[in-house]
Amino acid sequence: MTPDSLFPAALHWTILAASLIVSLVALACVIVLLRRRAPVPTFTASTPDAAPILREGEKNGRSPDEAFMQWSPDMLRQILASELPNTELIVVSNREPYVHEHGADGIELKVPASGLVSALEPITRTCAGTWIAHGGGSADRETSDRNDHVMVPPDAPAYTLRRVWLSEEEYKGYYLGFANEGLWPLCHIAFTRPQFRAADWECYQAVNRKFADAVVEEAKTKRPIVLVQDYHFALLPRLIRERLPDAIIITFWHIPWPNSEVFSVCPWREQILDGLLGSSILGFHIQLHCNNFVESVDRFLESRVDREGAAISYGGRTTLVHSYPISIEWPEERVRSETVAQARRRIFKRYDLSPDVKLAVGVERLDYTKGILDRFHALDEFFHQHSDWIGRLVFLQIAAPSRGTLPAYQALYQECLDLVAEINERYGSDGYQPIVLVPEHHDHEELADLFRAADVCVVSSLHDGMNLVAKEFVAARDDEAGVLVLSAFAGASRELLEALIVNPFDATGMGEVFFQALTMPVEEQTMRMRRLREVVRSNNVYRWAGSMLLDAARLRQREQFRDLGGSSAPWAVSRPVEENVIRLRA
Ligand code: F6P
Repeated sequence: MTPDSLFPAALHWTILAASLIVSLVALACVIVLLRRRAPVPTFTASTPDAAPILREGEKNGRSPDEAFMQWSPDMLRQILASELPNTELIVVSNREPYVHEHGADGIELKVPASGLVSALEPITRTCAGTWIAHGGGSADRETSDRNDHVMVPPDAPAYTLRRVWLSEEEYKGYYLGFANEGLWPLCHIAFTRPQFRAADWECYQAVNRKFADAVVEEAKTKRPIVLVQDYHFALLPRLIRERLPDAIIITFWHIPWPNSEVFSVCPWREQILDGLLGSSILGFHIQLHCNNFVESVDRFLESRVDREGAAISYGGRTTLVHSYPISIEWPEERVRSETVAQARRRIFKRYDLSPDVKLAVGVERLDYTKGILDRFHALDEFFHQHSDWIGRLVFLQIAAPSRGTLPAYQALYQECLDLVAEINERYGSDGYQPIVLVPEHHDHEELADLFRAADVCVVSSLHDGMNLVAKEFVAARDDEAGVLVLSAFAGASRELLEALIVNPFDATGMGEVFFQALTMPVEEQTMRMRRLREVVRSNNVYRWAGSMLLDAARLRQREQFRDLGGSSAPWAVSRPVEENVIRLRA
């Protein structure tokens, strides 16, 4: 039989017509889909280097599985109960979560302005652990018991706060000196020269030993999980390891880690690396900081670096070096009773703002790494280029006093006052001040109100580990409006891709981004804010802690197999966190 006899001419035409219809329908579908995925312009011309940001953003919690996964306190409790049964949790940080101070009306309770505290507090509350921290409040001693313990939060006690007392000399040398005049500027590369003094280093070592004593005293078992927080305690992991060899020590470095050339100027670089490698897991916010750390170890210590497995073998032990982007509580326990419009009315009334101005806000500790002066310079450029905005924009800068006895911080405060006065003089008029500077601490509720009242939030850090203000702004905007302007040098820029990303060192560029933010159509704001909220919701603080605890659990299991005579690669711990959770839920 010939093909012709099998397919008569009429059938040929029918098949041809059907294929044509199918192709046209497919083409129409593709066009509709492409239109629906209207591109969101994520990067501005001033974005220094968009590509690495995009890559990391895509890696951070954007798997399809996660759309269905809500990390919660319950999930964290479940991880602890099933993966790390009977394991006690000890958190160590310099800053305490609750400070008692003598005030005009007796003893007052304060929650410090600290990203570390806002991230760790819900975790410790959930896990009912022990939190060891410096008791720095003027009424801390009299509110602690004879074991230096106090149950917190005071209105609903959930965990023990163990306070460690420091002498004036220790506080000056360890906290103000080595931590904040040495390591802080060293790691932030904010062009403030680090100061390294042998006397500060002595204090730093002594205080690290003091906290090691406190950990050993508080540990009720030989194998606790100890969460060591931040650059105040680089030596602590090793000191704990020597005395509790079976502990799982998870150290989280909340600030950036510089490249090895910058790090090399620290006179005690080897001791710091050695101290940190006492950890089982060492976490940073972003991969770049992990890479910088690994490069520093490779350069200054005799060690074996397994780049593929993200592990360092040193002195017979292995430390995993992973990135865990820190975040905020979501869902928040506090329920909002007010609408955005009510919050806006209240804030405008409090600061005596005319109802028709646009409001931009900046909220941070008064710190030279935050780029406060730089955003004021950008504002100057903005008013210069867009003079029709004079009188129509107010920038409200909340700057919580911080480390105020250090010369660099005093100088910054004075420079801020001078620059604000100069700009207000240049563009202000009767009843109108373009910049309102409020150098005061604000509590969480007040800040949430401010975020809800604002048209634009500016985070222009010169360098920042993560920056939780950016995430708090997004979380506060349940109306899906408002624009986030975010520094490319804050770790948060790796996840919050729909923010307007800026280079804070480029005042003219940042001024133009202010214009873009202030004139952004509501539909675009919504499109961006909706996506940002998805990211913060799925990458919440329970995911941050849960990922580390799951890695710790895997590490402990691996050690058990090794004790039974098996062997496994160090990186066997690092399977995708979602996989672990799905297994847990099954
Ligand atoms: O970024 C490091 C950090 O410890 C943050 O977690 C916190 O917001 C800030 O520094 C607070 O610093 P301090 O405890 O010195 O006030």
